[in-house]
Amino acid sequence: PAGNQPYRTGFHFQPPKNWMNDPNGPMIYKGIYHLFYQWNPKGAVWGNIVWAHSTSTDLINWDPHPPAIFPSEPFDINGCWSGSVTILPNGKPVILYTGINPKNQQVQNIAEPKNLSDPYLVEWTKSPLNPLMAPDAVNGINASSFRDPTTAWLGHDKKWRVIIGSKIHRRGLAITYTSKDFLKWEKSTEPLHYDDGSGMWECPDFFPVTRFGSNGVETSSFGEPNETLKHVLKVSLDDTKHDYYTIGTYDRVGDKFVPDKGFKMDSSAPRYDYGKYYASKTFYDSAKNRRILWGWTNESSSVEDDVEKGWSGIQTIPRKIWLDRSGKQLIQWPVREVERLRTNQVNLRNKVLDSRSRLEVYGVTAAQADVEVLFKVRDLEKADVMEPSWTDPQLICSRMNVSVKSGLGPFGLMVLASKNLEEHTSVYFRIFKASQNSNKYVVVMCSDQSRSSLEEENDKTTYGAFVDVNPHQPLSLRALIDNSVVESFGGRGRACITSRVYPKLAIGKSSHLYAFNYGLQSVDVLNLSAWSMNSAQIS
Ligand code: FRU
Repeated sequence: PAGNQPYRTGFHFQPPKNWMNDPNGPMIYKGIYHLFYQWNPKGAVWGNIVWAHSTSTDLINWDPHPPAIFPSEPFDINGCWSGSVTILPNGKPVILYTGINPKNQQVQNIAEPKNLSDPYLVEWTKSPLNPLMAPDAVNGINASSFRDPTTAWLGHDKKWRVIIGSKIHRRGLAITYTSKDFLKWEKSTEPLHYDDGSGMWECPDFFPVTRFGSNGVETSSFGEPNETLKHVLKVSLDDTKHDYYTIGTYDRVGDKFVPDKGFKMDSSAPRYDYGKYYASKTFYDSAKNRRILWGWTNESSSVEDDVEKGWSGIQTIPRKIWLDRSGKQLIQWPVREVERLRTNQVNLRNKVLDSRSRLEVYGVTAAQADVEVLFKVRDLEKADVMEPSWTDPQLICSRMNVSVKSGLGPFGLMVLASKNLEEHTSVYFRIFKASQNSNKYVVVMCSDQSRSSLEEENDKTTYGAFVDVNPHQPLSLRALIDNSVVESFGGRGRACITSRVYPKLAIGKSSHLYAFNYGLQSVDVLNLSAWSMNSAQIS
């Protein structure tokens, strides 16, 4: 990042300029990873949306190509909105995307590669049969709430299925369409799933996960649903601007998704990320047998600032995603390829962080770094007791900011910190007893941006998440720090929080990194490894 652009990232995906939102149609084809994304060719605010296109061999370094899909026909003349790629059984990738027609209705279109021997798939052709799916007088679809087709999957009857995000009044739903040939699509009478109070479902994603291990599963995989596979439904709730998921079973014959007990597809569901993270999408990486999750993080600064700096929006580092052994939650971890950017490792081992102490980590470029730390608390008995009303982790974090001491915590990392700590973003844990006489504990992870910048105008919301770990075991925290973004992973990917911050002082070489413990009990740092991160090639 140049001196006059302190907030551009060094290793996160972002276009050279202008507005970016959702990741679209991620895939691997002939060994090349493709990322398309919602992009405004004309400015740093949302509008004039095309599918911009980049390719990579490692998901970290990227080569740009011309926009793959842009408004050109009546069925997409007012915008080429989000969609997905399906790899057909003959290996050919096809795009389904939402087009905005002259009446500003949302319709679904197909585009195919012009030349399949080009691994970069630079040119795409839109079918003259478009639109393939459209709202009309008989099907009862709301023409302004009908968008974001998923990757399609093959059903038990060899017919394709795809779902489209929608709503009717306050009911969010995933409308199912089926097809034999991928061109003629028929709306199913019943949606795959719906929820009456959730509002519009944007960017749905529906995919299988294995109950055993962390490998990915191809989207059309069968398996015995209750034996080896579970299914995940994820939706982006327009009302709250967060991505939520539900784990359950896919009834293939009835074409119904049935959430497991305890899950509901609304804003009470678990989130992929408890910070800024939206419109995410997965794909199956057949080369490395894993499922990979892309997600968009927007700015926390003003539109005026976006226009002045000439860009808005980044993609998070792609994450491998899989089902936890418990079957009750997903785990995410940055793809291993990002570790190739690590350099100049610094290690601290077996340090004690006394109550109210701080330990500076020297020797890394603190504005662009990867940090992994393993904490161990000694005396869980000293944890404060949770109030029964503390059900919202974000509220716990914002009411008890980093300066509030408790029995156990806050302890964690201070990142993007200025020399005298006028500015800092703190990512930390607190551990509570579930109730007075219980031996159960609750681990809360917070990302506190309230002191991240001397600039007053930015959104400095504090985020929080519960981390489903046993605090008798060492507690891990990883932070990917990249100038204006901090991606934090608690409990080895059991809770993720992404935040955007814009320090005035703690930029470039003036940025510092600390481990800290402001709680009343001392905490052990079993191990802390930090690396400077090289910049990726993203031209
Ligand atoms: C989500 C979204 C999608 C839509 C696209 C338009 O951020 O609103 O529902 O297809 O962005 O850019």
